[in-house]
Amino acid sequence: MAGRFEGKRILVTGGGGEIGTAIARRLAGEGGLVILTDVAVGRSEETAQAIRSSGGNAWAFSMDVTSPSSVASALDQAEQATGGPLFGAVTAAGVLKIFDFLDLPKENWDLTMNVNLTGTFLVFQEVGRRMVDTGVKGRIVGISSVSGRGGRPNVVDYAASKAGVISLVRSAALALARYGITVNAVCPGVVDSEMTRKVHQGRAALKGITLEESLASMVSTIPLGRIQTPDDVADVVAFLLSDDAGYMTGQSLNACGGLEMD
Ligand SMILES: NC(=O)c1ccc[n+]([C@@H]2O[C@H](COP(=O)([O-])OP(=O)(O)OC[C@H]3O[C@@H](n4cnc5c(N)ncnc54)[C@H](O)[C@@H]3O)[C@@H](O)[C@H]2O)c1
Repeated sequence: MAGRFEGKRILVTGGGGEIGTAIARRLAGEGGLVILTDVAVGRSEETAQAIRSSGGNAWAFSMDVTSPSSVASALDQAEQATGGPLFGAVTAAGVLKIFDFLDLPKENWDLTMNVNLTGTFLVFQEVGRRMVDTGVKGRIVGISSVSGRGGRPNVVDYAASKAGVISLVRSAALALARYGITVNAVCPGVVDSEMTRKVHQGRAALKGITLEESLASMVSTIPLGRIQTPDDVADVVAFLLSDDAGYMTGQSLNACGGLEMD
């Protein structure tokens, strides 16, 4: 399994999700030692097992990204299991729930901010500290969203959290640049996933149309004319973790079929 990530230890949070799974498989397929973590660790364990069965290297640990002690403890376990320090980290943990702006409960705002923004901060910070301590010139990649680039009246909290990740990437990149650590993000568009089906179920209900009609009208707005796959996201994450992106930091790349161009 020779490849761009041969022998490199790379953390993937939200490893039980559809995008986290695709990223983990891609990195392991290119020789990475992949550490999948998730608050619900079952699906991460299945993916880690599948990667090992096909000759790759993967481990799964429980991690709640909203808890500093859970983040630190999962990283301790990962370093112990893999026998060395992290080279990279990808933060794919996230939550999304549909509410119209006027109905959005504060509890949901708080949950979304906690997982999507505070959780990304806590992982960036802990991973950054460990890379600095071990002298690793590592790579950190966040998963933001094109929702963080504009207004989203039915996922107000989600859009704000993802805009926050774009800002966090810039600040963390500046803080860690002198250690040779890069920090970037990917902003996916509309990914063929459970999260997208949930969004469109909510939109369809608000508009009085079917899920299929809502999805079809969204796809018609994508310049490249098709929905994004989790592998499309994994391609860009792998690029940002690779040597090819060694001179990039503080960037959030739109990978969205042309939906967003700024
Ligand atoms: N699906 C899309 O269309 C889309 C588009 C743009 C961006 N994104 C982003 O990509 C990332 C992955 O999305 P996905 O489609 O794989 O979603 P998903 O719901 O399949 O996966 C998200 C994972 O995060 C985990 N998680 C939730 N709370 C957590 C916590 N406190 N600690 C640790 N893990 C937690 C969940 O258990 C789940 O396994 C998310 O950040 C999402 O916002 C998704």
